[in-house]
Amino acid sequence: MTFDRRIKIAPSILSADFANFGAECRAIEAEGADWVHVDVMDGHFVPNITFGPATCAAIRPHIKGVMDVHLMIAPVDSYLEAFAKAGADVITAHLEAGPHIHRTLQAIRGLGKKAGLALNPGTGLDAVAHLLDMVDLVCVMTVNPGFGGQKFIESQVAKTRALRAMIGDRPIHIEIDGGVTVETAPLVAAAGADVLVAGSAVFKGGSVSNPAPYGANIRAIRAAAEAVAV
Ligand code: DX5
Ligand code: ZN
Repeated sequence: MTFDRRIKIAPSILSADFANFGAECRAIEAEGADWVHVDVMDGHFVPNITFGPATCAAIRPHIKGVMDVHLMIAPVDSYLEAFAKAGADVITAHLEAGPHIHRTLQAIRGLGKKAGLALNPGTGLDAVAHLLDMVDLVCVMTVNPGFGGQKFIESQVAKTRALRAMIGDRPIHIEIDGGVTVETAPLVAAAGADVLVAGSAVFKGGSVSNPAPYGANIRAIRAAAEAVAV
């Protein structure tokens, strides 16, 4: 993975057909996805359950590019090795998932993976200032994690802009997760985000047997973001 700040679209397979993950991953990459975003939920840290490392390992051979694993689980540390072995390229843990985020980020890098730090909408940036040398990506949640298809929380745009200023020249991605659409993508791109996760806005109108809408949706989000990217 080489670092750049170009706009990257990362479809979330939370909105894919769960009975067809392999084909869905191949379809979104063929239709122009840059990264594949994989949402892991435990029914404890968030009020929803998705899947774990075995599913990640099963879909890995169907992804040519970056597998971006977003862990909405607590505790997290005891599962990091399993997700690393499953083939994640980026492993993102939540600041709110436990008292020892610094140790968690160290452990992710120790496993040879890019370390992501996710922030819930109600979490400020104060702690991030102390973790900048520990992270490869900061994920600004623009919905409360747990479900796809929620409304984008506008107050996170100012947070994204402040985070971009804090990061300066450091090679740290800013990822936006939740409610990203053609309408909201420009708001965060202009604020300095480079990785745009989108679930419902990418998968709407398409299917494994009719993947063309995925491509149209990805291109529309990318164009809206690139028009204003900083
Ligand atoms: C929410 C997940 C997101 C979500 C995005 O907890 O982390 O990745 O699937 O879905 P949309 O784009 O539909 O808001
Ligand atoms: Zn996510």
